[in-house]
Amino acid sequence: MGIHVSERVRRIKPSPSTAAADRANALRREGRSIVSLVVGEPDFDTPAPIREAAAKAMDAGATRYTTLAGTPELRKAIADKLRRENGIEFDPSEIVVTNGAKSAIYAAFAATLDEGDEVIVPAPYWVSYPDAALACDGVPVAVACPEEQGFKLTSAQLEAAITPRTRWLVLNSPSNPTGATYTADEYRALAKVLARHPDVMVMTDDIYEHIRFANGVAPHLLAAAPELRDRTLAINGVSKTYAMTGWRIGWAAGPRDLIRALDTLLSQAAGNACSVSQAAAAAALNGDQSFVAESVATYRARRDKTAAGINAIPGLSCRIPEGAFYLYVNCADLIGRTTPEGKRLAEDGDVVLYLLERAGVAVVAGAAYGLSPYFRLSIATSQDVLDEGVKRIAAAVADLR
Ligand SMILES: Cc1ncc(COP(=O)(O)O)c(C=O)c1O
Repeated sequence: MGIHVSERVRRIKPSPSTAAADRANALRREGRSIVSLVVGEPDFDTPAPIREAAAKAMDAGATRYTTLAGTPELRKAIADKLRRENGIEFDPSEIVVTNGAKSAIYAAFAATLDEGDEVIVPAPYWVSYPDAALACDGVPVAVACPEEQGFKLTSAQLEAAITPRTRWLVLNSPSNPTGATYTADEYRALAKVLARHPDVMVMTDDIYEHIRFANGVAPHLLAAAPELRDRTLAINGVSKTYAMTGWRIGWAAGPRDLIRALDTLLSQAAGNACSVSQAAAAAALNGDQSFVAESVATYRARRDKTAAGINAIPGLSCRIPEGAFYLYVNCADLIGRTTPEGKRLAEDGDVVLYLLERAGVAVVAGAAYGLSPYFRLSIATSQDVLDEGVKRIAAAVADLR
């Protein structure tokens, strides 16, 4: 008997970066030397004081269910952080702690979308937004934001994309995969359009706000356009800033009615986020922040050297990202060229396959992020690995006819 899989699951696909990492690992098991520039997680360990706070909490009995929306300590730490770092006010009752930012995003769509409701997703986008919307019966509306406009959504594009069915606009700044970061002025221009469409809600995914190469955290939409306060859901978490991807702590801050809907959904779908991880996250937010500046300095050095290496390869180019830890590499000049084996490269997926097979370098095709022809290369790995990756890519590109 075959297992019946719901239409909901058949509509979506597993994460393409997981698929690329699996392919690289399979080749490794065959004995190939593989340089993987796929994964989007810090290569640092969680700082010791955070780990110690978790151990202490465990010993002190933080091993039981917590308040569904998150411990009062953590929600206060988040409210304090939002005030201190972003200049925005949320009461702890307007915050829900989730099992990573990813589940906050999913829960927000599940709690608000009815069949056919549209979610505007500027492309290139993080792969989970469209699939999460699809899984929740929504319709993702990708809007291509080309490199010439800094991979950012313009107000004219926003105006053109809004329909009576638009429920959400998703903004991710700095962005995965491009690092593009909206300025306060750009946010205000988008807010002006939104003022004409009071039923459109905005989801800000702020997960990379600290991985930023200009001064300070990225500007926040709500600091630039406070009038959007009653329809904006600010999503964030500790995964990237504090190298805590495995602890699974994220959150959503927003209008009370929306948070209540998320609470109701999560009470049946998940329950509270891990008690020990919540204590660790509170320690991360309340504690010494020097790890953040140190890790960003490391990412910056890698970004500069790796981008220079990529830009020195004839046929490839990349913008210097303002934030996050990826390069989004333009490979338009390689399309139409031929491999030594006689295969014509027709799209960025072919380029990615060629780099993997010829050079043993794993990256993710731009098609996964909704804007081609590009590939994403993660710099969340050591400089030695990045140098080797760039060297191999250069050699493989030089072999094309
Ligand atoms: C843009 C973006 N948002 C959210 C997440 C998920 O973060 P979390 O680990 O908190 O679920 C990621 C992780 O790759 C991401 O790139």
